[in-house]
Amino acid sequence: MATLPVFVLLSLICVCKSDDRLTPAKPLSAGNKLVSSGGVFALGFFSPTNSTTGAYVGIWYNNIPERTYVWVANRDNPITNASPGKLVLTNNSDLVLSDSRGLALWTTKNNFTSGTTGTSAVLLNSGNLVIRLPNGTDIWQSFQHPTDTVLPSMPLSLSANDGLYTRLIAWRGPDDPATSDYSMGGDSSSGLQIVIWNGTRPYWRRAAWDGALVPAWYQGTTGAIMTLTIVDRGGELYITFTVSDGSPSMRLMLHYRGMFKFLAWNSNSSSWEVFTELPSSSCDRYAYCGPFGYCDATETVPKCNCLSGFEPYGVNFSRGCRRKEDLKCGGGDNFLTLRAMKTPDKFVYVRNRSFDQCTAECSRNCVCTAYAYANLQNGITSVDQSRCLIWLGELVDTGKYPDGNGENLYLRLASSTGIYHPLCAYPFWLG
Ligand SMILES: *[C@@H]1O[C@H](CO)[C@@H](O)[C@H](O)[C@H]1NC(C)=O
Ligand SMILES: *[C@@H]1O[C@H](CO)[C@@H](O)[C@H](O)[C@H]1NC(C)=O
Ligand SMILES: *[C@@H]1O[C@H](CO)[C@@H](O)[C@H](O)[C@H]1NC(C)=O
Ligand SMILES: *[C@@H]1O[C@H](CO)[C@@H](O)[C@H](O)[C@H]1NC(C)=O
Ligand SMILES: *[C@@H]1O[C@H](CO)[C@@H](O)[C@H](O)[C@H]1NC(C)=O
Ligand SMILES: *[C@@H]1O[C@H](CO)[C@@H](O)[C@H](O)[C@H]1NC(C)=O
Ligand SMILES: *[C@@H]1O[C@H](CO)[C@@H](O)[C@H](O)[C@H]1NC(C)=O
Ligand SMILES: *[C@@H]1O[C@H](CO)[C@@H](O)[C@H](O)[C@H]1NC(C)=O
Repeated sequence: MATLPVFVLLSLICVCKSDDRLTPAKPLSAGNKLVSSGGVFALGFFSPTNSTTGAYVGIWYNNIPERTYVWVANRDNPITNASPGKLVLTNNSDLVLSDSRGLALWTTKNNFTSGTTGTSAVLLNSGNLVIRLPNGTDIWQSFQHPTDTVLPSMPLSLSANDGLYTRLIAWRGPDDPATSDYSMGGDSSSGLQIVIWNGTRPYWRRAAWDGALVPAWYQGTTGAIMTLTIVDRGGELYITFTVSDGSPSMRLMLHYRGMFKFLAWNSNSSSWEVFTELPSSSCDRYAYCGPFGYCDATETVPKCNCLSGFEPYGVNFSRGCRRKEDLKCGGGDNFLTLRAMKTPDKFVYVRNRSFDQCTAECSRNCVCTAYAYANLQNGITSVDQSRCLIWLGELVDTGKYPDGNGENLYLRLASSTGIYHPLCAYPFWLG
C-alpha cells in the first residue's frame, strides 16, 4: 500500500522536472532534446546549416536565437542522413550513440556496473553533461571531454598528469564540427603555459604563469564581469573563468581559423560580441620576431624589435636578431633587467630556488642567456612556491607589454653592452 503513492509522487516529480536527463529506460531519439533544469542549455540531434556530412549530438544554448554549439559528441563520426540515431544510457553507465542499424558512433568508456540502479545522464545548467550515480558521484563529465569551447566554471588544465588534461580542438569549418589541426591546451612539458597549436607547431603561446591568481577580467557593456582565474591544486594548475550574476552568456572558443576568442552574447544586437581575440596582432603569433627578437605591444601597431644588445640579422625579422658583442662569461658579463616582458618559450624550470639561487643558477652557467623569477605564494597550496626559469640558448617568442603587465626578464649581455631600455606593459588578461 505504502509504495504506490510514493511511486506516483516520484513519477509526478519526474514529469515536472521533465527532460533534463536520460536513464537506461529513457533514451533520446532524433527530434527530441534534453533541456537543463533552468532552461539554459539543450542537448539533442542537429545538422549544422549547409552541412552535407550528416547529423550530430551536441549541446547548445537553449535561449539564444543564433544556434551556438558548445559541445559535440560524435564530431568525427556523423550519423548518416538515411539512418536516424539514438542516444542511450546503458546499464553499464555509459552513453552510447548508435544509428538505426545499431552501429555505435560514439560512446563513453565507464563500463561501470556495480550499484548502478538509478544512474542517469543529466544536462546541467552550466552546460555540463554528467553521468551521475545515485549517490551523486559523477563518473563522466562533458567538461572533461571538451570540443572547442570553455564555459564558465569549466576547468582547463595546464598539466598533463592530473587526469583533467584535455585540449580544445577547433571545428574544421563553420559548418563542420570534425576535429581540425588547431588545438589548444596546457603545455604539458612545463605545466605553466597555454599554447595554441597548428598541427604540431605552436601558433600562439601565453607566457609561463607568474603567480597572478586573476590574470584578467573583463567588464562588458552591461557591467557584467568575467574573471579568469588560475587555480593551483597541489602543484597542478588549471584555468577557469567565472562571470558575475546576471551577466550575459559568455564563452571562450577556439575558432576554426585558429584564433582563441572571448565572446559575450549581446541581446540588443542579438549577436555574439568578440571582446578579445588571440593572437592579438600578427607579431603576437608564435616566434614571429625570430630568435632574440620580440613583439613590442606598446606600439599602436605592435611590431618586432631586437632585445637590447642585439641587432637585426637581415632585412626583416625572419632570422631574428644577433648579439652586438659576444659574451665573455668568466666575469665579463652582466644581466640587464627588462621590465614588463612576456617571457620567452623553451625555458628550463628549476624547482625550489630563492631569487638569489636562481640568479646564481644562470650566472654560473656560460650558456645561460636569461632567467626570470616569480613567487607563486598567492595564498595557494603549491608544494614549491618558487618559479625559477632559465634559458639555455636562443630566446624565442618574447614580447613586451605596457607597464604593469608581464614580468622582469634578466638578460645576459657582455658588460660593455648594457644600455637600460625602459620596457612597458599590455592590458590584456592573457598577458
Ligand atoms: C549557407 O550557404 C549559403 C549559400 O552558399 C550562404 O549564403 C549562407 O550564408 C550559408 N549559411 C551559413 C550559416 O553558413
Ligand atoms: C538494462 O537492464 C534491464 C534489466 O536487466 C533491461 O530490461 C534493459 O533492457 C537494460 N537496458 C539497457 C539500455 O541495456
Ligand atoms: C566491462 O568490464 C567487464 C569486467 O568488469 C569486462 O568483462 C567487459 O569486457 C568490459 N566491457 C567493455 C565493453 O569494456
Ligand atoms: C558513490 O558510489 C560509488 C560506487 O559505489 C563509489 O565509488 C563512490 O565513492 C561513492 N561516492 C560517495 C560520495 O559516496
Ligand atoms: C597552419 O598550418 C598550415 C599548414 O602548414 C598553413 O597552411 C596555415 O597557414 C597555418 N595557419 C596559420 C593561421 O598560420
Ligand atoms: C541594450 O540597450 C539598453 C537600452 O538602450 C542599454 O541600456 C544596454 O546597456 C544595452 N545592452 C548591451 C549589452 O549593449
Ligand atoms: C624576409 O627576408 C628573407 C630574406 O631576404 C625573405 O626570403 C623573406 O621572404 C622575408 N620575409 C618577409 C616576411 O618579408
Ligand atoms: C628546497 O631547498 C632547501 C635548501 O635550499 C632544502 O632544504 C629543501 O629540502 C628543498 N625542498 C625540496 C622540496 O626539495
